[in-house]
Amino acid sequence: MEGDRVLLEVKEKYFPPKELVEGANVKDYEKLYAESIRDREGFWDKVAKELHWFKEWDKVLEWNYPHAKWFVGGKTNITYNCLDRQIELGRKNKIAYIYLDERDRERKITYGELLELVCKIANALKELGVKKGDRVSIYMPNSIEAVACMLACARIGAIHSVVFAGFSEGALRMRIEDAKAKVLITATYTLRRGKKIDLLSVAKKATQGLDFVERIVVWDRDREGVKGEKLIDLYSLIERQKPHCEVEVMDSEDPLFILYTSGTTGKPKGVLHTVGGYMVNTYYTSKVVFDLKENDLYFCTADIGWITGHSYIVYGILANGTSSLIVEGAPNYPDVGRWWRYIQRYRVSILYTAPTAIRMFMRHGSEFLKEYDLSSLRILGTVGEPINPEAWLWYYKYVGGQRCVIVDTWWQTETGSHMITTIPSYPMKPGKAGKPFFGIEAKVVDKDGKEVPPNTVGFLVIKSPWPSMLRTCWGEPQRYEKYWNTIKGYYFTGDLASYDEEGYFMILGRSDDVLNVAGHRIGTMEVESAVVENERVAECAVIGKPDPVKGQRIKAFVILKEGVKPSKEVEESIKQTVREVLGPIAVPDEIEFVEKLPKTRSGKIMRRILRAKELGLELGDTSTLED
Ligand code: PRX
Repeated sequence: MEGDRVLLEVKEKYFPPKELVEGANVKDYEKLYAESIRDREGFWDKVAKELHWFKEWDKVLEWNYPHAKWFVGGKTNITYNCLDRQIELGRKNKIAYIYLDERDRERKITYGELLELVCKIANALKELGVKKGDRVSIYMPNSIEAVACMLACARIGAIHSVVFAGFSEGALRMRIEDAKAKVLITATYTLRRGKKIDLLSVAKKATQGLDFVERIVVWDRDREGVKGEKLIDLYSLIERQKPHCEVEVMDSEDPLFILYTSGTTGKPKGVLHTVGGYMVNTYYTSKVVFDLKENDLYFCTADIGWITGHSYIVYGILANGTSSLIVEGAPNYPDVGRWWRYIQRYRVSILYTAPTAIRMFMRHGSEFLKEYDLSSLRILGTVGEPINPEAWLWYYKYVGGQRCVIVDTWWQTETGSHMITTIPSYPMKPGKAGKPFFGIEAKVVDKDGKEVPPNTVGFLVIKSPWPSMLRTCWGEPQRYEKYWNTIKGYYFTGDLASYDEEGYFMILGRSDDVLNVAGHRIGTMEVESAVVENERVAECAVIGKPDPVKGQRIKAFVILKEGVKPSKEVEESIKQTVREVLGPIAVPDEIEFVEKLPKTRSGKIMRRILRAKELGLELGDTSTLED
């Protein structure tokens, strides 16, 4: 949020190494960008032709503000491009994923084996009666199984809805209910900091009484045996399946997946992405922004429960035939060396992570990194929140040894793919995400949609559609339209930004009531609703406060019910409620008991006033304040 963090301005530019520029997949940003804007449709037409289509599109774009259709009439299947086509290109025995759990147990899977696994799961889903258009919720830890389940849905045209395995019962239930999932796929547990976190009991509780959920498929990790109503063991189910499954021929505009994300008000929105545009856009951004080459080993530290996992662990990366490392568990468990050991052991060449992780490592100094050979690294990526120049420089110097390029990729669940970033052949500026990607017209405007001058803070908006933009919000078309009618003529990102004289964008954070805690997007209202589920709470208001590592921390102001006295015990019980309803990532760091909350005359809580008071900022306009 504005004013939350003072960003040290670094004027200096950093230039990519000459060899990298010479070998880059795209060398001349300016020229290609100009072309992509001059003839956007021609540009995407060319890119889309790099992929396999059963039938080519009749029209690249149909734009009926605010509704876009891309590659209209085109027929394809994203898994054909991610798997079958890779095998046709000779990558059958190439590693698709190296997976490591927290105990360092390794499992490798080739493109050929992954195709077989995906086909078996796809056939299993068919056996359970899952058809094109049905929804399947996936509540699983980062794993080859989870990726294969997503792809299996896509192969038969079922719409997956992945729910981050760090979410608890309430959050999971809301998402299953909203999507009316026919099947839920889960695992017995996930590992985090050496602890087994039981997912199956959460899944069982979250689906209680939901009759439309016909089956719960369980990845029984330790072969303990799953028994119970609706439960079915994943591996015994797939054992009897054929290793081939024809792809469902999908229309370019058929839904691919729903991914829930937090908004300013109400329950999370089910962002819907469709097959064709999402496939083309994630494929191309992966290829260009990560500069993917045949022998790269790419390591994205995200979780498949978030959009980064969808676009840049699964779809965009596989569509390029790249080998990836995928991990389960915490970055600093059993020690801070975990990731760096992997980079050394497997010779990782591209690392994609988040500022919050970088800042966490930074607290340990830089000496510890000297124990590892990180010379295989070529490209470093960051995503999820603004990266402060200090963290950028640390990443550049100590991880990248001053020879790597940093790509600071700005994008959102809704945008599906990278929107603003410098590409590897282009000069970087610490703390600035950089330039709009090809075909993207980013602007900074005031509330009336007027462009602001350079170095002025305004709303970040996008003019004109792009292939991987969200198509709607599941079951709530009016929420989709809000993106395009908040500032007429533009897609409203909800972020604050500025741009400099050279056209580099700096992202300053959210302009609304959405929190960004350790790169996790959380709605203030979601946390407030969870807090008031505690029987001793009458009212609650939640704000974000700056945090040196997590970006933001959560503070809750709580009014207790009459007769309840504030105490440490009450505080703990409130935290426990949030943990159970939403999950550990949403637990307030701070709770303050108050008698009153600032409200408008119509009764709306003015979080802005609470923030200003808390941070010692100007109160601003208080004319609507009730009291
Ligand atoms: O505020 C921006 C921030 O994350 C928000 C999107 O969150 P989500 O949909 O969960 O997707 C995160 C992963 C793409 C944005 O509105 N954000 C994302 N990337 C950056 C960023 N802020 C600054 N710099 C970034 N590179």
